[in-house]
Amino acid sequence: MGYVKYEQKDLVGVVTIDREKALNALNTEVLADLEAVVDAIDLGKTRCVIITGAGQKAFVAGADIGAMSTMTKEQGRAFSKRGNDVFRKIESLPVPVIAAVNGFALGGGCELSLSCDIRIASENALFGQPEAGLGITPGFGGTQRLARTIGVGKAKELIYTCGKVKAEEALKIGLVNAVYPADQLMEECIKLAGKIARNAPIAVRQCKKAINLGLQMDIDSAVSLEAELFSFCLDTKDQKNAMTAFCEKRKPDPFIN
Ligand code: HXC
Repeated sequence: MGYVKYEQKDLVGVVTIDREKALNALNTEVLADLEAVVDAIDLGKTRCVIITGAGQKAFVAGADIGAMSTMTKEQGRAFSKRGNDVFRKIESLPVPVIAAVNGFALGGGCELSLSCDIRIASENALFGQPEAGLGITPGFGGTQRLARTIGVGKAKELIYTCGKVKAEEALKIGLVNAVYPADQLMEECIKLAGKIARNAPIAVRQCKKAINLGLQMDIDSAVSLEAELFSFCLDTKDQKNAMTAFCEKRKPDPFIN
């Protein structure tokens, strides 16, 4: 797992893509390392995951252009599938994932951030899908997740023009949730992850499931899924703990399951 590091900070897992010399560009080795690290996360003791890039300059500057430059159609299809599979795995992690976007998030880097639940950016972050300028389309889900995140019109404009979005603009268009000076980014992401980790873990997981799966359904199926997940929570110790505490006008015990 040479290109991807993992650190457990209490209930929060921090994943760092570490190919700094190439601005953390994604090739098949990096994708394999990222998948291995994600697979190895101990979900019994992790309530939130943060993904970031090594160094001060880049989150991920895209898929590896050198590697793609000589790919055949079949190799390209396999490469796109590989990235999509890993990103779907990240998107489908049962716990929330925060992208700590510490610089360039271009092409596959922007797509990686979009497979996370929440994006928090440093002031020097720069987002974009430059693929059309390289003679390709986005291939790790960008056409789909960017449109779902910021709306179809703005996503089309950015993808067709290869427009770049600075952190402040990203905040305005809803691409990121917050922007911080670079030296505060990780601290703020850890704080946010800590807030998530303090809530009832099963409930948080069910919330993620309800939002992610529900958004792909018609509204009747989606609210019915929500009702299922809500009622599932009524069977948990955390719910008994929290609601009994409320009724007894005291704080709940720390959540356990
Ligand atoms: C391979 C990359 C890379 C990339 C940077 N590097 N981005 N290598 N693939 N995507 C390498 C450079 O070649 C260079 O290596 C080193 O990182 C530092 O980059 P510089 O260009 O010297 O830095 P700088 O001048 O600061 O410019 C930074 C930059 C620029 C603006 C981010 O590197 C850039 O435009 N990169 C490409 C961004 C991009 O187009 N991404 C989308 C790719 S397509 P050396 O060895 O020279 O020091 C994509 C498709 C996804 O992601 C879907 C696939 C299926």
